[in-house]
Amino acid sequence: MTTIATSRQERIRRTLDHLRAGTTDEFDEVVTFQPEEFTDPGIAAREREQVFGRVPSIVAHSGELPRPKDFVTLRMPRNQVLVVRQDDGGVKAFVNACRHRGGLVEEREKGSCRLFSCGYHRWSYDIDGKLRTITHDSTFGEVDRDAYGLVELPCEERHGFIWLVDKAGAPIDVASWLGPEVDEILAGYHLERLLAYRCEGFDEPANWKIMQDAFLDGYHIQYAHPNTAGKHVHTNVQVVEDFGRHARMCSPRKKIDRWLDEDPGDRDLGRYVIDGHFLLPNSTLLRQPDDHFELLTFRPHPTDPGRCRMEMRLLVPPVEKSGLTPERWAATWDKNWEILLAVLHQEDFPLLRGSQRALASADAGGMVLGRNEVVNQIFHRELNKLVS
Ligand code: FES
Ligand SMILES: [Fe+2]
Repeated sequence: MTTIATSRQERIRRTLDHLRAGTTDEFDEVVTFQPEEFTDPGIAAREREQVFGRVPSIVAHSGELPRPKDFVTLRMPRNQVLVVRQDDGGVKAFVNACRHRGGLVEEREKGSCRLFSCGYHRWSYDIDGKLRTITHDSTFGEVDRDAYGLVELPCEERHGFIWLVDKAGAPIDVASWLGPEVDEILAGYHLERLLAYRCEGFDEPANWKIMQDAFLDGYHIQYAHPNTAGKHVHTNVQVVEDFGRHARMCSPRKKIDRWLDEDPGDRDLGRYVIDGHFLLPNSTLLRQPDDHFELLTFRPHPTDPGRCRMEMRLLVPPVEKSGLTPERWAATWDKNWEILLAVLHQEDFPLLRGSQRALASADAGGMVLGRNEVVNQIFHRELNKLVS
């Protein structure tokens, strides 16, 4: 394992070394944990405050709000959130709660809106959050409108993503949160040039960490996905760069095996690996061989430690850059998406719902993460630092 960013060629060379030797990157020790971490309401409350209320996490791809007045809404652990593209091209985020008596200011998941207007008594707000209209204001009484705009949340756009800290008044600085290595890695991908071809959310009866753990795990592939991913990707072989908070993990595809005996020389073997990125606290970004990406995010439920929301995004080069006809391009990504959904619904979700039920057993017993589960160890290590 390394703690500095290495070249792709170097990472691929190390995966080949591991494959030849039957090894993988490892930490020095196994790490124990308690099942309560996935079920305890007190721990869940600390995570809402000390993780999501303090550090930036990704809430959307920039391409989901391409034009001024475009918006998305979502549920964060602490707040209902409304993110809006401003007339100057920037983004702002607000608590999606009317300052009159708390109606949802916007009920749709996404769209475009010149004026947000609450369905309850029709107060309305400009896209920058200012309170515009108090209906029947001659009878309503004196209100300082500047004091009753939508409550703003810290939000920043960087590397093609919109990042949010789920706490009003908290500072946000995505570059410093990412650190120089990961900031540079993400910049190099030019994710802002990609299109969020599909984006879907899933409300699952499992703790968000159970879900996040599964999408860092190179150890389960051949067992949980024997006829899908297990056919194409090696199990238990990962080259990991540990950047402190975040990590990058390189996983070899089985097609790389032809280079086990033959020296690849200077050949670019990029298409034989998947570069995964764990972005603390709650995202996995997968760079697939043909330079499309999948982003998986996991957010705790606002009250129930046994529930979470996962979002999956398929980020692809736009049709003009693809060299494909529009029909072929769409068919390719539709098929890709269908395969991703099938694996999730048929393989990962049933397993992870089962984990949640099992971990909630009164006498489930202490548990353990292996030396080979490097990125899971990094996730738990860094989360413990934030929460303790
Ligand atoms: S609650 Fe929104 S206008 Fe009354
Ligand atoms: Fe899986």
